[in-house]
Amino acid sequence: MSKQDELKQQAAAKAVEFVPENEYIGIGSGTTVNFFIEALGKSGKKVKGAVSTSQKTSELMAQYGIAEISANDVTRLAVYIDGADEINHTLQMIKGGGGAHVPEKIIAQLADQFICIADESKYVTRLGKFPLPIEVLPMARSMVARQLVAMGGQPELRIGYHTLHGNDILDVRGLDLSQPLSVERQLNAITGIVDNGLFAEKSADLLILARSNGVELINPHV
Ligand code: 5RP
Repeated sequence: MSKQDELKQQAAAKAVEFVPENEYIGIGSGTTVNFFIEALGKSGKKVKGAVSTSQKTSELMAQYGIAEISANDVTRLAVYIDGADEINHTLQMIKGGGGAHVPEKIIAQLADQFICIADESKYVTRLGKFPLPIEVLPMARSMVARQLVAMGGQPELRIGYHTLHGNDILDVRGLDLSQPLSVERQLNAITGIVDNGLFAEKSADLLILARSNGVELINPHV
């Protein structure tokens, strides 16, 4: 296992401590979350059920005996556990490297608490090195791309990939993300964009960050 994977596994294992029993929870997507599902399954802790954000997450949940529930069948989730592609010091994030940021944002909205699990490479002072994923309706792809170029971005179509809802993803480099909240809103005001991978409106409440010298809990909101 790579050093980075070891750190992802440590952050994921720590997150199990924050899962309340007999509650509904939300589970994100990605390799860090895969470690979390495994750790939760092996812990013997029992949740009432979990809302999943991707096919892979659903498959792993089934493998570890975690019951899946639809987002439409719950009014709240006690906690949402997910990874990030980048997370800054106020816990705003870029997500969607795996293309699942739209279901992730929906499920995060339902949760009382969003816990991000990450290895130290994801913790940045400024968002934007990682290209920003934007989910677009296929018929709006070129029109949206031109508007992104006008904003200073360099969009690139994610070739051979369609989201859970059959849409396209534009990965965008070069945008000025120094004000993540206003960029998130500005992008979502463009017709044809389903949602973008900035999580500033709904930032994380707690970051479980695995560093080579140990696991740190970061909560700048207290
Ligand atoms: C998927 C995501 C993931 O959380 C993000 O890509 C991090 O993935 P990983 O844990 O594999 O590094 O947002 O849409």
